[in-house]
Amino acid sequence: MQKLPMAHSTPSPPPEMAPSRYIEKVSLATGEIVEQDFEPRRLLVHSHRDYHLVDVYARFMMSRVVKATGDEETARRKMKEMRRLGHRTARVLSRMIGQRDPKRLARALFGLKNREYYFRYKRHYLEPDAIEARVAELKDEARERLEATREESGLKLRVLLTGGTGFVGKEVLWQAAHDPEIAEVIVVIRPKVIRDRKTNEVTKTLSPEVRGRDLLEELWLTDHEAAEKFRFVAGDVEEPNLGIPEGDLAGLRNNLTHVIHCAASVAFDDPYEKSFSSNVNGTLNALRFSLGLQSHPGSPFVAHIGIETSYIHGRQTKNVALEDEIVFPRNFYNNYYELTKAMASIETERFMLEKGLRVAQLCPAIVIGESRGGNNRGDTKVVNAPVNVFGRARQALSKTGGRWRDRSTAAAIARMACVFPGDPSAEINLIPVDRVAAGILASLKKPNAIAERVHLASDNRITSQQIQTTVAEELDIDVKLAEPTLHRNVTLPLLTKVLNRLGQGRTANALEKLGSIFGGYSEWGQPIHEVGKDVEVLGLSSERPNAVHAFRMLCRHNKWVQNFGQVKDAREISRREKIWREIMFEIEEKHGQSAGALPVLEFRSHVEEVLDSDAFVRRSPPESTAPSPSS
Ligand SMILES: NC(=O)c1ccc[n+]([C@@H]2O[C@H](COP(=O)([O-])OP(=O)(O)OC[C@H]3O[C@@H](n4cnc5c(N)ncnc54)[C@H](OP(=O)(O)O)[C@@H]3O)[C@@H](O)[C@H]2O)c1
Repeated sequence: MQKLPMAHSTPSPPPEMAPSRYIEKVSLATGEIVEQDFEPRRLLVHSHRDYHLVDVYARFMMSRVVKATGDEETARRKMKEMRRLGHRTARVLSRMIGQRDPKRLARALFGLKNREYYFRYKRHYLEPDAIEARVAELKDEARERLEATREESGLKLRVLLTGGTGFVGKEVLWQAAHDPEIAEVIVVIRPKVIRDRKTNEVTKTLSPEVRGRDLLEELWLTDHEAAEKFRFVAGDVEEPNLGIPEGDLAGLRNNLTHVIHCAASVAFDDPYEKSFSSNVNGTLNALRFSLGLQSHPGSPFVAHIGIETSYIHGRQTKNVALEDEIVFPRNFYNNYYELTKAMASIETERFMLEKGLRVAQLCPAIVIGESRGGNNRGDTKVVNAPVNVFGRARQALSKTGGRWRDRSTAAAIARMACVFPGDPSAEINLIPVDRVAAGILASLKKPNAIAERVHLASDNRITSQQIQTTVAEELDIDVKLAEPTLHRNVTLPLLTKVLNRLGQGRTANALEKLGSIFGGYSEWGQPIHEVGKDVEVLGLSSERPNAVHAFRMLCRHNKWVQNFGQVKDAREISRREKIWREIMFEIEEKHGQSAGALPVLEFRSHVEEVLDSDAFVRRSPPESTAPSPSS
C-alpha cells in the first residue's frame, strides 16, 4: 500500500488544538458520546482507506461501475452488497474452522472494518427559537447601522482586510478600488521573508509598507486616484488584535465599518498544527477583533465578513451540502485545510450566536482566475498545478535541440507526467475569482447577508473528462485519466521510483503531490454544493460563470501569460496581465462572445495576430480600453 505522510502516527496536538474541542465521537450502538481523545488524522479520508488489498480492489471496482453506468447510487449499493457478502462468508468460514470471532476474520480476510462510532460537531448554543430571534435581531441591527452610515456620509464604507496580498484578496482590492461606496481599505500585511532557493538563508525581508506599495503597482493602481483609498498596516492574524500596533488601533476603532477576514493558509499538505494555527487561531483573533469594534462606544462598525470555503462540507456525498448547515461529513475531510476551515466556521457561528457578533460567512468553491481572461495575478495553487505540469510536459515533448538520448529521456518523463488521477464523471466545483470578490463586496452592503452562510460556487460543475478534453484542445497534449485508487496504490509509487532512479526527484515529488493531494478532488462522489443565496441574498447575477469556459481560459492564460508557472516575477505577471485583459476585451467586442466561448483555433489566431508572445508585447496599439469592473 502507498504510505501517505498524513496517515503516520503523529504526536497528539496540544490540548488547545485538540479536535475534541469541536468534534465528538458518538457510539453507533448506544448513541452515547465516547469520552476519548482522537488524533486529527482519524478525521481524514486517507485514514479510512487503502488499508487492505480487498478494500483497494473494491474501490477500484466501484470506480469501474461508476464509469460504466454513470450511476453513483448503483456503485454505493454494490459496495454495500459486497460488504454484506464478505461478512456472510466470514461467518460461514469461522463456523467451519472453529474461529469464535467472525468480525476478526472478516477484517483479516476482506479488510471489512465495522465502524462502531461516528463523528459530529459539538454545538450547544441556543434553542431553535432563540436562534431565530437572535438572527432577526442581528440583521435588524446591521440594517440600522448601514442606514446610519449612509445618512452621515452617503454610504462611505471603511473596511479592514486580512489576506490582501493573496489571490482572492488582490481581486477584492482591485474591485474595491473601483467601487465608489468604499472610501477606505486598511490592509493588514505581515513582513515577507525572502530566502535563497539553494541555501534557504534569509536574503531580505520586505516590510509591510514595501509590500503595500508593490501591491498597488501590481494592481495597476499606483497613478490611479483610488490609490489614496488604501492604507497598509503591519500585522499578523495569528497574534491578538491581529498584531496591529497599538498606535493604529484607536483610529481603527472609531472608523471601521467592516472587517473582511480573508487570510488563511491554503495548503493541502500542511500538518494539522500549522493549519490550525493559521485557520482557527487566525479566525478567532479576527472575530475577537471585530467583537471589540462592535462593542466600542460610538464605533460605526456594521459587520464582520468571514471568508471560508464550500469544502467545509468535506467529502459529504449523497446529500447536497446545504448552505445553512454544517454537519461532520460521513466520508471525512480531504486534508487539514478543509478540517480547520470547518472548525473556524464553527467558531464564527459561535461568536454570532453566543456573543451576538454581526457576521456573514462566505464560502467560495475552488477559486480560479477571473472569468473574462483567466488573470490570476500569479496564483499557482490548486487546479493551476496539474495544468502547469501538463503544459510543461508538452514543452518537453516538443523540444528539438540537444542529444537524441537526452531528448528521449525528457520525452519519456513528460509522458509519465501526463496522468491525471480522476474518474471521468467526477464533478469539480470551480468559481472565477471576480465572482467571488463581487460576492464579498456585495455582502458589505447587504444586511440580509448577516447570519447567513453563502456558497460562492457554481451550478455547472466541470467533470474530469471535460478537463481532459479541454487540456487536449488547448495545450495539445493527451492526458490519461487514471483510476484514482489504482493510481494511488500501484502506478504512482512505481512511477516515483522510476523517476527518482532517473534523477528526476522534483518531477517525482510534483507527481506525488498531485496524486495524493489533488486526487481527492477528482474521484467519484464529490460533494454537490447548494447555491442560491449568492443571487437571493447578495444580488449577484443568476447566470453563474460557465465552468468549462472558465477552465478553458485558465489553460490559455497559464500558457501565454504565465508560461505554465515559469514566469514568477509579480511585476512581469502584472504587465502581461494588463495586456492580456485588453486583448480579451477586444476579442469580446470583435466576436460578440466571451473569449472562453471562442473555439481554440479562432482564439489562437486572434492572439497570435495581435501579440508577440516571446516578448509579450502588442504588435499594434490597443483598439479600445478595457473597462473597469464596475462598468
Ligand atoms: N484559493 C481557493 O481556491 C479558495 C477556495 C475557497 C476558499 N478560499 C479562501 O479564500 C481565502 C483567500 O484564499 P487565497 O486563495 O487568496 O489564499 P492565498 O493566495 O494563499 O493568500 C493567503 C493570504 O493570507 C495571508 N496570511 C496567511 N497567514 C497570515 C498571517 N498569519 N498573518 C497575516 N496574513 C496571513 C497571506 O499573506 P502573505 O502574503 O504574507 O503570505 C495571503 O495574503 C482563504 O480564507 C481561503 O480559505 C480560497
